[in-house]
Amino acid sequence: MLAIRGLKKVYRDEGDEGTTALDGLSFDIEKGEFVAIMGPSGSGKSTLLHILGFLDRPTGGEYVFNGKKMDELSDEDLARVRNREMGFVFQDFNLLGHATVAENVELPLLYSTDIEPADRRTLVERAVKAVGLEEKMRVEAGNLSGGQKQRVAIARALVMDPSVVFADEPTGNLDSKSGGAVMEILRELNKEGHTVILVTHETYTAEFANRILHIKDGLLEKDEKVLKQRETFFK
Ligand SMILES: Nc1ncnc2c1ncn2[C@@H]1O[C@H](COP(=O)(O)OP(=O)(O)O)[C@@H](O)[C@H]1O
Ligand SMILES: [Mg+2]
Repeated sequence: MLAIRGLKKVYRDEGDEGTTALDGLSFDIEKGEFVAIMGPSGSGKSTLLHILGFLDRPTGGEYVFNGKKMDELSDEDLARVRNREMGFVFQDFNLLGHATVAENVELPLLYSTDIEPADRRTLVERAVKAVGLEEKMRVEAGNLSGGQKQRVAIARALVMDPSVVFADEPTGNLDSKSGGAVMEILRELNKEGHTVILVTHETYTAEFANRILHIKDGLLEKDEKVLKQRETFFK
């Protein structure tokens, strides 16, 4: 469902020689996989996830997502695919602190003008329930704990029922108990059929996945199959 070939990304400011963040990566990810992208800080993980999630364009190589070639899509097309087929979870939650849980989760639905308000409410309730926060529906997101905030972010990522959920260091700002809860939710989503692509630099997080792509200096160092997925989370 997702294929990259010779993917390159060079960040260049006028007058400098540029930083090569991705140096020609190639791999496929199939529907239903739970993939962890692992590597040391600065190895290109976030750059890769941003490109896979249509948040940034590569400077070379090819990317095909669900049959769509990225370089044939306009920025508007990318935004539409991102909204309908992809969900995002970031390390720092990216919530609106003064909006309620329900309002934060509803946001992706507001981009689709064809969803009726009553349906929006049902979809929001279902997503919030999936992360176990139904009692917090009317609470301002800024008043929640870090772990609860990340669960709201997951509900927001889920609300459009995307085929792929991208998560960049989703447990990076959490204590081990909340981090464990977040990883269990991601595992549950994957069992329900969502493809999950997770970036992490921690082995105990990566082992929740069934495949680990090891990235170093913008290159694929190892494509590892996880024979027994991790069930618990220790820090
Ligand atoms: N917006 C940017 N402008 C310039 N250089 C960048 C930018 N984003 C990342 N880089 C550089 O690209 C390399 C890879 O960064 P990143 O993808 O953030 O790695 P990781 O997520 O693995 O820590 C690093 O050398 C980083 O400094
Ligand atoms: Mg990063």
